[in-house]
Amino acid sequence: MNPKGRLYGIGVGPGDPELLTLKALRLLRSASVIAYQSAIDRESIARKIVSPYLPGHQIEVLYHLPRALEPEKAQAIYDKEVEPIAEHLAAGRDVVVLCEGDPFFYGSFMYIFTRLSDQYQTEVVPGISSLMACPVSLGVPFTYYNDILTVLPATLPTEMLTAQLLATDAAAIMKLGRHFTKVRDVLHQLGLASRAKYIERATTTQQRIIPLDEVDPEQVPYFSMIVIPTKQKL
Ligand SMILES: C[S@@+](CC[C@H](N)C(=O)[O-])C[C@H]1O[C@@H](n2cnc3c(N)ncnc32)[C@H](O)[C@@H]1O
Repeated sequence: MNPKGRLYGIGVGPGDPELLTLKALRLLRSASVIAYQSAIDRESIARKIVSPYLPGHQIEVLYHLPRALEPEKAQAIYDKEVEPIAEHLAAGRDVVVLCEGDPFFYGSFMYIFTRLSDQYQTEVVPGISSLMACPVSLGVPFTYYNDILTVLPATLPTEMLTAQLLATDAAAIMKLGRHFTKVRDVLHQLGLASRAKYIERATTTQQRIIPLDEVDPEQVPYFSMIVIPTKQKL
């Protein structure tokens, strides 16, 4: 019987192919199978990031993890999407799963990890997260000393966003998309709009930094973030 393959989840960083770790690069080049997620009919962002490094002879597995589904429906779809990866592992092939940013920070790899890591030897390689990259691309020091940093999905209701923003020194607001207007209004109400910085597709060749009040809410992509740096200047 074949020994089982090993499962690797590698963070590929926020977009710039040079923001990949040496370890991720080594594993990427040595795997016989690479797997990556993408929305249906869209190019995989994670694959695009690593495309300059691909040796060209690897088996590629594409999987879809639809967002915004009821948990039970999602469960059945995720179980099915993971099957081709499990088949390669069972056949003794190592599989490197690419994950945009860091694999365990809202990463798509977690859905594979929770399903397969108890059956196959698994290693996870951290990546540079958008949480780290966006403040740097914006040129804003983010947190000092004892500052509290809060990460908020823009999908939260207004009351929760308000309560969390009142209780923190610095914040990152992710998953903006169609929730942008709600977030911008909350920031104005709390007097935080002048400190808030908006960025989309950070570190990629399509990066854009736009003053908050000039952002067109109809054009806000999923890969965008509002960064509210701490007030402290030391
Ligand atoms: C599902 S989470 C994935 C986070 C990813 N694992 C990471 O560590 O950055 C997707 C959210 O990350 C943020 N994001 C990821 N890459 C980004 C980028 N290059 N520029 C701006 N925001 C980004 C956006 O807020 C997006 O809605």
